[in-house]
Amino acid sequence: MSVPARPFEHDGIAFGCDYNPEQWTPDVWDEDIALMRDAGVDLVAINIFGWAHIEPRAGEYDFSRLDDIVERLHTAGIRINLGTGTASTPAWLTTAHPEILPVVEDGTRRYPGGRQAWCPSSPVYREAALALVDAVAARYGSHPAIALWHVSNELGCHNALCHCDESAGAFREWLRARYGTVAEVNRAWGTAFWSQTYYEWDEILTPRATLSSRNPGHVLDFHRFSSDALLEHYRAEAEVIRARSEVPITTNFMVTAHIENLDYWSWAGDMDIVANDHYLDHRLGDPRSELAFAADLSRGLGQGAPWILMEHSTGAVNWQPLNTPKAPGEMIRNSLTHVARGADGVCFFQWRASVQGSEKFHSAMLPHAGTDSAVWREVVELGGIVDRIGEIAGSRVESDVALLFSWESWWASQSETRPSQSLGYLDQVHASYRALHANGLTVDVVAPGADLSAYRLVVVPGLHLMTEADAAVLTAWIAAGGTALITFSTAIVDENDRVYTGGYAGPLREALGLHIEEFAPVAPGLALTLTDGSTARLWSERSRTTTAEVAASFTDGPAEGMPALTRNIWGDGTAHYLATLLSDADYRDLVARLSAEAGVAPAAPIRPAAGDLEIVRRRGEGASYLFVINHGETDVRVDSDGLDLVTGAEVAGGITVPAGAVRIIREEAAA
Ligand code: GLA
Repeated sequence: MSVPARPFEHDGIAFGCDYNPEQWTPDVWDEDIALMRDAGVDLVAINIFGWAHIEPRAGEYDFSRLDDIVERLHTAGIRINLGTGTASTPAWLTTAHPEILPVVEDGTRRYPGGRQAWCPSSPVYREAALALVDAVAARYGSHPAIALWHVSNELGCHNALCHCDESAGAFREWLRARYGTVAEVNRAWGTAFWSQTYYEWDEILTPRATLSSRNPGHVLDFHRFSSDALLEHYRAEAEVIRARSEVPITTNFMVTAHIENLDYWSWAGDMDIVANDHYLDHRLGDPRSELAFAADLSRGLGQGAPWILMEHSTGAVNWQPLNTPKAPGEMIRNSLTHVARGADGVCFFQWRASVQGSEKFHSAMLPHAGTDSAVWREVVELGGIVDRIGEIAGSRVESDVALLFSWESWWASQSETRPSQSLGYLDQVHASYRALHANGLTVDVVAPGADLSAYRLVVVPGLHLMTEADAAVLTAWIAAGGTALITFSTAIVDENDRVYTGGYAGPLREALGLHIEEFAPVAPGLALTLTDGSTARLWSERSRTTTAEVAASFTDGPAEGMPALTRNIWGDGTAHYLATLLSDADYRDLVARLSAEAGVAPAAPIRPAAGDLEIVRRRGEGASYLFVINHGETDVRVDSDGLDLVTGAEVAGGITVPAGAVRIIREEAAA
């Protein structure tokens, strides 16, 4: 049942943070609020981890401290993003009900002492959590300071995959609803293999650790179930809130590298506004391009509507092997990259750096060093910019390019037994996105099956699981005149993880004009060379063309002489296929050629060309806004006219954006 969205209304772009005042004494709260005002903070998330504070014993609530905080923020004119407080269970609850604790795949329980120590399918947890939500919503649901409800926190960050008996029962119920009979489950999972056939529902467990590899269909459905189980929990909390409050409701997604447990395409429709948490991941080759990808995907989840960056960091995080601080200006550039890509709110984890607990070495808006610090000065500078660009709120990002992305493909492609362990789904997604990003193109990240009619170029990186219906949407769009770039490992299996036979990429085979016979992955470290001089790595495949033209072939490796890059006219459009992972420079050049062919270009002409910058246009009712974010070390020149909202300077005939700087130009309204 779909519930109409409640709009999140805010004056301008929201600027805020998670605030954990329970870690501090009231004299510190006074200073906090005074400094929040200095920085221009106007949206503060509280009570995220509040449960043990507001419910010290089962059913006994003590809201005195939270009341105090709410009133102080309200008096200061700061709006509240109110946590339901259910993210982390109090010790009394797990002591009385240890059955709430999650079980990991080897069948052992995980204990309290961290956070999110609860099983998503536990009825005992659910009942206790909903009682808390009801009490919080009854107390604050109509308070004028409450701007947004923040359900739980990063649902599924730690506890997404629970293997306890309660979860196994819920998984069987989920399977029953999806398949009806055990026989259908057998068919969907291909359990004829290895004598895995089930005869009774009770024989089906969650995919716990096994000696050999597990049934991939089973694992795929467990991912689907686990995502749905947490969504059901979200819905249960939201329903309790809705009965008590008119305020919009959301939760913070984790659209970020390495966290794959929730299918946010199925979640997003439940959010009154999409909210995302993003942290730069320095384990990646190009963390900044991943940031842009995550922001574009966050916007895609809301079908292009503005979203909120609910958390990011002013500097280093504390959970990577090496936690790198940001360079001067990087925090401002990254924050405004999210805004450029559709965020109407920029918030941080967290306000004041903790001095105890596992996050004491995580950066914050107010660092351990206090206000006499570069981080604080940059926070204040950003607050000023966010304030000056408020008119941008509500405008929408323009893009002619779409990239198809799916969590189901991510799950299906990382099966324990696959052609190469050296390549993951995100490697292909990020490589394609990097090539688009390096060309300065703005990309909408959309779900398979989405309406593509607004796009000129569609990129489909390694979409391993593709239904026939979603493939038909793509091929019909190509036939209607679209230009597509489809890369290897796309449309290999259907929704049941069953291989399409008769040549890989089954449902796209005709549109690609290719007969793909065999995968030929390549060891890391070995370079492949193509006939057009490009270099590539990790993948090749043995195929022949049927109707496609060969643009480049492998000159070496296990698919020597076979097509690496092909082009097939399909109806009024063109389907390009790339059978390897190109080097970044060659991938960038390929995308430059295809974008020229498709007639897509960066949001404005730039000199020197693209490179290390973001150039994105958001269009509002009366005006459009050109964001130019120069991450590089050289100045760039951009053709534009209007008013730079960052500096207040008039722009006529072009603007120089100095190295490291950001300019946001309000352009003349389109005629
Ligand atoms: C997540 C959580 C926060 C905090 C940050 C640290 O985003 O939601 O509570 O732990 O990570 O990076």
